[in-house]
Amino acid sequence: MKQTSRELFKDATSGKKTNRPPVWLMRQAGRFLPEYRELKKTHTFTQIVQTPDLAVEATLQPIRRFDFDCAIIFSDILVVAEALGFEYEFKDTGGIRLLKTVSNEKDVIELTARVNDVCQHLQYVKEALQILRNELPHKAIYGFCGAPWTLACYLVQGENIQGFPKLLQLQQSNPVLFEKMMNALTQASINYANMQLQTQIDAFQVFDSHAGLTSLNSYNELSGKWIAKIVEEIKGKAVSVVFANEMSGRLAEATKTNADFYSLDATKKLSEVRNQYNIGLQGNLPPEILSNSTAQQTALRTKEIIDDMKDFGRHIFNLAHGIKPDAKLENVEAMCQTIRGY
Ligand code: CP3
Repeated sequence: MKQTSRELFKDATSGKKTNRPPVWLMRQAGRFLPEYRELKKTHTFTQIVQTPDLAVEATLQPIRRFDFDCAIIFSDILVVAEALGFEYEFKDTGGIRLLKTVSNEKDVIELTARVNDVCQHLQYVKEALQILRNELPHKAIYGFCGAPWTLACYLVQGENIQGFPKLLQLQQSNPVLFEKMMNALTQASINYANMQLQTQIDAFQVFDSHAGLTSLNSYNELSGKWIAKIVEEIKGKAVSVVFANEMSGRLAEATKTNADFYSLDATKKLSEVRNQYNIGLQGNLPPEILSNSTAQQTALRTKEIIDDMKDFGRHIFNLAHGIKPDAKLENVEAMCQTIRGY
């Protein structure tokens, strides 16, 4: 009988030999899909996220079209900020804005007071994951949250601007307050992760999209040590994956979080990393290829990555970062065909 995607994922992540890596794409549900743009004509992003049937629908769209091996629940890292009392909205000019930010002791006290209510606010995510498990018994399902550091970038800055300078300013001017805030965000993330782990997910990914903002040798102190606490909760219950963006050159620091898998950017060949570190690897096709290349070029670059990793195993095929809204459908199709036909 043909192996299911879920079985393939289990084999690949536990180090068994497989014919090909399992595949999914970060941000696979979203604006590059015509059916997602259609859904957005009648519902806002927040409505989709907060309504379990709609969140499941958005999650299933890329699976229906491309038959990916893994589904990631349609949500956002910022739902935790919202559950802590810091709501977000979309700017007319694109990007995100928080209605209020964290800047002083009072804000951190307010945030800390809500840590144990997070799951109550986020029941809709649990419900969506339960429906999804029923819909997709044979696919691997990912839950996720933001890394406390990356979440703090948004909470303190209030919007996504280059460099998020206010967080580093806060950490340097008031390290005690920084520590208190990070503790609260970590505990909220642990509560949230545990709620998701109750729903038979196969993997849990922590998105540290702004890991690269930490200066050399400060990653562990600013971000890694908090992620390590979340990873510890996931161990043995689901495959733990950390997207440590822009950290390929600093893996000695990043791997201290002790995750099972690291999702890497495109600055290093995966086999080079594997020769040096005995870790599972997710990645790392540059998303620009899907937007700017031809189907044939996409197929070639895809094959290069699988060739490079085929003797190593413990590889999950993915992009180096999230798929872009202008990605071409025929390129995603060429990538999938190359992987499946390998
Ligand atoms: O991967 C998936 O398909 C699951 C869904 C998912 C979304 N956001 C949906 C989304 C996931 C895993 C995320 C994670 C996320 N959210 C991250 C980490 C990953 C990364 O890309 O670095 C970050 C930093 C965020 C915060 C966030 N969400 C920003 C800054 C924005 C606005 C910028 C943008 O991309 O428009 C969002 C909005 C968002 N989250 C959209 C989607 C599909 C776009 C909303 C829309 O217009 O439909």
